[in-house]
Amino acid sequence: MKFKQSIKTLFIAGALLGAATSQAAEVEVLHYWTSGGEAKSVAELKKMMEAKGIAWKDFAVAGGGGENAMTALKARVMAGSAPTAAQIKGPSIQEWGQEGVLANIDSAAAEGQWDASLPKVVSAVMKYKGHYVAAPVNVHRVNWLWVNPEVLKKAGAKVPTNWDEFFAAAEKIKNAGMIAVAHGGQPWQDATVFESVALGVGGADFYKKAFVQLDQATLTSPTMVKAFDTLGKIKTYIDKDAAGRDWNLATAMVINGKAGMQFMGDWAKGEFTAAGKKPGTDFLCLAAPGTDKAFTFNIDSMAMFKVKGDEQQKAQLTLASRIMSPEFQEVFNLNKGSIPARAGVSRAKFDSCATRSMDDMDASSKNGGLVPSWAHGMAMMSATQGAMVDVIAKFMNSNMSSQDAVRALAKAAKTK
Ligand code: GAL
Repeated sequence: MKFKQSIKTLFIAGALLGAATSQAAEVEVLHYWTSGGEAKSVAELKKMMEAKGIAWKDFAVAGGGGENAMTALKARVMAGSAPTAAQIKGPSIQEWGQEGVLANIDSAAAEGQWDASLPKVVSAVMKYKGHYVAAPVNVHRVNWLWVNPEVLKKAGAKVPTNWDEFFAAAEKIKNAGMIAVAHGGQPWQDATVFESVALGVGGADFYKKAFVQLDQATLTSPTMVKAFDTLGKIKTYIDKDAAGRDWNLATAMVINGKAGMQFMGDWAKGEFTAAGKKPGTDFLCLAAPGTDKAFTFNIDSMAMFKVKGDEQQKAQLTLASRIMSPEFQEVFNLNKGSIPARAGVSRAKFDSCATRSMDDMDASSKNGGLVPSWAHGMAMMSATQGAMVDVIAKFMNSNMSSQDAVRALAKAAKTK
């Protein structure tokens, strides 16, 4: 109910009033990119806009996964002052489209030949009723395990390639007095770990049936019980101070050798990069156990809101064009840890984790292993996702049994 209740009756005011207008060309951009690597990434867009003579009004709302940002956005739209653009992605773009508050940016898309440079699966998500309303910035892969090889070495553990080896390594790290799994106890992070675990335990077909088709039989299957059992076991390798910890602080624990491993999407790589660390030597990017043939994608995008005045509309189209430019997609993604959403960007400057991501995305799109990240808003409507995330968080923070969790998850999947 989350989205509908808060917006449906109130959006009209926002839509009618339109965004606040000001004279000088300016774009106001809502995002939640506030960690070290993320801030560096978004700063590149600001620079490009300023180079075009357009002022950048930063509307940054801290909080990984973007829940706080979405709350702030709803409040602004209700108040009749939508920003120029906001980081909204996946099926949520359709939800906002239905409210009638998004702008048509077809002219920027036609000029930049977006249809030809984007995979169909991506361009379809950026359109509402056949018209572009959003511009994609990247593709994040979520099913990664970040590892500090020095910690493994100190603990006498080897690089894990499956669940048995993962738990063997975790046990050694723990016994050596270090934290095996760096984690932040926030619902979206809990769901991020769980989605990789479910993919690793059940495989891509299972994942699709459970989280894309929301098939009740799959959601209540013994495989799902096993996924929760595995998550329950991972819980025992997380330190007692994890509650509320931000994801980038968990990544910092891996960077500085306090912890050995973290399940997280490749925005975590942005933190390693910002800290001057090199893949292969200072850190390893491994597919989460059992998921090396699969790829959970999470595409960030900027949805454009209706703004008033020629000047502001022109500035908005410039923003959309810049976002899709090969120059921006290169520099943004080098900092962000992700890979470009569009074709035609050279691989030359990307590191081994990024090129592996590019290759794996390609291979998985051919073998059926390419799946949407449900924890990051790619697979289902926001109300359903919210209800399912709550179940995972409850499991992480209580003694709930795997059987009870499975029943609760299947019920949550019916939320509309
Ligand atoms: C994801 C988002 C990423 C990153 C991460 C942490 O949902 O797609 O761009 O910001 O959350 O906040």
